[in-house]
Amino acid sequence: MTGHHSNNRVVAVANLKGGVGKTTTVLNLAGFAGQMGKRVLAVDTDPQGSLTRVALPDDTPSISLTEAFARRATSLGGVRCPSRFAGVDVVPSTLALEAVIQTAIPWEGREYVLLDMLTPHFDEYDLILIDCRPGIDLSVTNALTAALAAGTGRVQLHGPGWLRARPRVAAAAQCAH
Ligand SMILES: Nc1ncnc2c1ncn2[C@@H]1O[C@H](COP(=O)(O)OP(=O)(O)OP(=O)(O)O)[C@@H](O)[C@H]1O
Ligand SMILES: [Mg+2]
Repeated sequence: MTGHHSNNRVVAVANLKGGVGKTTTVLNLAGFAGQMGKRVLAVDTDPQGSLTRVALPDDTPSISLTEAFARRATSLGGVRCPSRFAGVDVVPSTLALEAVIQTAIPWEGREYVLLDMLTPHFDEYDLILIDCRPGIDLSVTNALTAALAAGTGRVQLHGPGWLRARPRVAAAAQCAH
């Protein structure tokens, strides 16, 4: 799933199936892009925190998407940190994100929380990669919304709007490279 914003590219790596290489894909793309001198942000939206554990192996993150999502942060101030990979910043995740996502289900605009958090930083990165949990829940719709809306304007991803958006989501996934 990709979207463009000026020279920026936002990619969410999502799949209904678990264990198919989503996190590995994000880590490899991020690591190589960072080595090539690109400014990269890797966002872990999976409460399992697999990407976080690889990117920040020695740290228990004191900051994370969990708290930022809970307070509906509108920037990454105090949320991102440098990773072990050159040129790659990471937004870590924790298991508690699971509970926060459940809490957020009734929120108006719940699909746009991550997009609103990332938007002020689009011009700071050449590539923003978003790792997703398997399946589809609010953490995944936030990731897909950020990737799509970064280039195509806001899309409705709830109720009938989600059904209408699905062909676009599928098309965008096929175009992802
Ligand atoms: N291209 C590949 N070839 C062989 N093995 C791979 C490949 N990509 C990933 N793996 C292995 O597959 C396993 C699952 O990979 P990964 O954790 O990236 O999947 P995932 O889709 O993120 O899983 P989850 O749905 O649990 O988040 C890991 O052991 C990883 O080393
Ligand atoms: Mg994973």
